[in-house]
Amino acid sequence: MLDTINTIIMLLCKGMANRKLYFSDHPKVNAYSSEIIDLSNDYFRSTGSNEIFIGIIDGFYIFEGKRVFGPSVTGKQLILLADTLQCGGFGLQKGISISDLKIFFDITALPEIPVTKLTDARSLFTNYGINNIRLGEPFSDEAGKIQRTTANVWEGQAVGKGLQSPTFLYQELYEVVSKAYGDASFDRTLDIDKARSVSEFMLRYVQSSFSDVMQHVHYPDYDSYTVGHSVRVSSLAVYVGSKMQWSKKDLLSIGTAALLHDIGKCRIPDSILFKKGRLTDEEFEVIRDHPRAGVEILLEQKDISELDLAACWGHHLRYDGGGYPKQPEWAVRHPVTALLQICDVFEALTAVRPYKAALDPQGAYTIMLADKGAFHPGLMAAFISMVGLYPPGTYVKLSDKRVGMVTEVSEYIDRPKVIVISSKIGESLGEDDQYLLNLSDKQQQAVSVDQLLLDYQE
Ligand SMILES: [Fe+2]
Ligand SMILES: [Fe+2]
Repeated sequence: MLDTINTIIMLLCKGMANRKLYFSDHPKVNAYSSEIIDLSNDYFRSTGSNEIFIGIIDGFYIFEGKRVFGPSVTGKQLILLADTLQCGGFGLQKGISISDLKIFFDITALPEIPVTKLTDARSLFTNYGINNIRLGEPFSDEAGKIQRTTANVWEGQAVGKGLQSPTFLYQELYEVVSKAYGDASFDRTLDIDKARSVSEFMLRYVQSSFSDVMQHVHYPDYDSYTVGHSVRVSSLAVYVGSKMQWSKKDLLSIGTAALLHDIGKCRIPDSILFKKGRLTDEEFEVIRDHPRAGVEILLEQKDISELDLAACWGHHLRYDGGGYPKQPEWAVRHPVTALLQICDVFEALTAVRPYKAALDPQGAYTIMLADKGAFHPGLMAAFISMVGLYPPGTYVKLSDKRVGMVTEVSEYIDRPKVIVISSKIGESLGEDDQYLLNLSDKQQQAVSVDQLLLDYQE
């Protein structure tokens, strides 16, 4: 059921994003609307309920008293809209129609929404003719309501630290990249400054709790996976760079360059980018042109740095000089570009894509190391020793059935440091009862990692 809710939220966000780019009634926006309606009707039919209420609290989506993590990370649009409309969430009611959603998307694309309080927003919805989308009360009231029906759902949930949360950082990263793609496809100016300030924000986490940030790396971003890919590559690169004690300047460069490295893909038609089956030689050439197209886009921007350009240009160039686009032999590659190339391939191999399952890190390393000459050997070795077999932020099951989240790779690559979050008998531990375990410590010899849990959710 949560899958349906996840999808509905993401479709609403995509509808909003696309309505901003295109016109009302655009087939792309209409396709999202019909999908939302089909899914909602299935939901009403199978549960017997009359409303899907998507609550929004403190930057998170809430459904039936529980946080909905994936969309909270990757779909910020509806959260921002709730803020503008001063509401605590959206109720899609039985009977919701294409027209309701069309008007809803039209309103979200208004240059300014004339609302200062919830009653204004409700009148706006009624006056425009929306019949079956209810705007909920701000969360304290809504929470009160839910609390009476679902026991203790709010207990232990940290509220009010929205700005500090890694989810907020992730929302910002997604926002920057998806906006950059939208702007680039319409030849508008990119907000490079914003990309840099979000990268800087990311650097702050590197010092403290980067595993919390890396934890978010696992949320798939549904169909626009170039955005998620760029965000994940950027997080990985900043993490590894910081472990190698790179200067702040280089970390900032790689963070920003990684966010924008595939920007040239916005020039590739969807029919080629999402083509199932074999590409023709000509189509392949179009794909191989994306680093060059990216540089062309970036050169139009002010405040672009040489490293942003170099990284975008060189991220498909191999260590042995192969790859694309061709460049003269005398050209020297900056380590930022070389690390980006490693992170790019590692992410692509370990990510879930509609057409393939995710490889685990060991599988990815096997493929990467077998490709002799592809990667800078020193950086590749460093990458493996920092990311390890169980990358920070992933969940693992230990040999005694405890479950933990990896915080850091330790002395031995297969024996990371973990925070134990669930006991041997499967009880989840409250925040105060969780504890750190360094599997490389001698006292921990008896325990080992049994399994990498790729889609575990707390
Ligand atoms: Fe690329
Ligand atoms: Fe890429």
